[in-house]
Amino acid sequence: MSIVCEKIQDKEVQEKANFGGCYEFILLKNIKWNKDRSCFHTHLFRDRIESYYNFEVRPDDVFLVSFPKSGTTFSQEMVWQISQGIDFETPKVQPQEIRFPHLEMNSMFAKEMLDFPDRYAILNERKTQRFIKSHLPAPFLPKQVWSVKPKIIYVARNAKDTAISYYHFYKHAGQNQASLREFLDFFMNDNVLYGPYHNHVIDFWQMRNEENIHFITFQDMKRDLPSVIEKTAKFLGKSLSKEQILTLADYLSFDTFSKNTSVNREDMFLQLCNTMNLDREKQDYNFIRKGKSGSFREEMPEDLIEKFNEWTLRETEKANVDPEIQSVFFGV
Ligand code: A3P
Repeated sequence: MSIVCEKIQDKEVQEKANFGGCYEFILLKNIKWNKDRSCFHTHLFRDRIESYYNFEVRPDDVFLVSFPKSGTTFSQEMVWQISQGIDFETPKVQPQEIRFPHLEMNSMFAKEMLDFPDRYAILNERKTQRFIKSHLPAPFLPKQVWSVKPKIIYVARNAKDTAISYYHFYKHAGQNQASLREFLDFFMNDNVLYGPYHNHVIDFWQMRNEENIHFITFQDMKRDLPSVIEKTAKFLGKSLSKEQILTLADYLSFDTFSKNTSVNREDMFLQLCNTMNLDREKQDYNFIRKGKSGSFREEMPEDLIEKFNEWTLRETEKANVDPEIQSVFFGV
């Protein structure tokens, strides 16, 4: 087995970084990967990482990979719609989580907090073409993706918006009590699920010109969605008319999307509130939350903005990656 799991020893992390009813965390390491890489995760991964790593990949699979809160749901729906040649009817009866399951979702939340059908099993048993979401960093993805080479769309978002969005998700979905400052500290110390953030993006950025990989950003989707739709359709070997592109852009627009029950995870939050004995109406949080680029400015204190920027510069220098990547990490 090339993946090993190390228990996180830091007491403060064990006490404060809890997520989704999990209080024990591990560091995954792929000892056979060509670079030193790790991934912070819940202890639930210990029993399942082997099955994720050995997941059988098919040539016609379509993967959507991202660091959490990068606009995954937004991109998934775009990809699924393009692949179907536009179908607004099926989503009305089938939630995105079933059309486009998250491979390792059952290792994010403790069962007592959120119980749902096993996504890995759903994907394994699927007879038709599969659309697969994963937040796993490159070294931990099913190993066959590198030999079978299915189409992979990677979506990235700037560091500060990603972190702020993750803070709200940790608080409301993960039921984590950390303050914004504490959370951002965990984020910069790679103590959040799927962290570290920079290497997650860098590994795919460096593979972005591979034939089966399509690298997109949240900020480009916000700036010019029709153009991202067009390029992604080309990558997927699909052709959409100008009118279809505009109709899809409208369907994906924040206002419409946030009300779309096929994607807005309202069911998940209702179940969560139920088990936690919370009033959903008082939660003041929507999974499709603000949907802006650059909204970190409304919440992130100046000193932390500076710290984040310095951290990003340090990490990119360490990785010796071309400077163009700064448009991903800093772009809004
Ligand atoms: P914010 O919390 O900044 O609003 P993910 O799907 O990877 O969890 O990402 C969630 C982020 O994407 C949230 O960011 C959410 O609001 C944003 N998002 C989801 N759908 C969107 C859409 N159609 N348009 C713009 N932003 C969207």
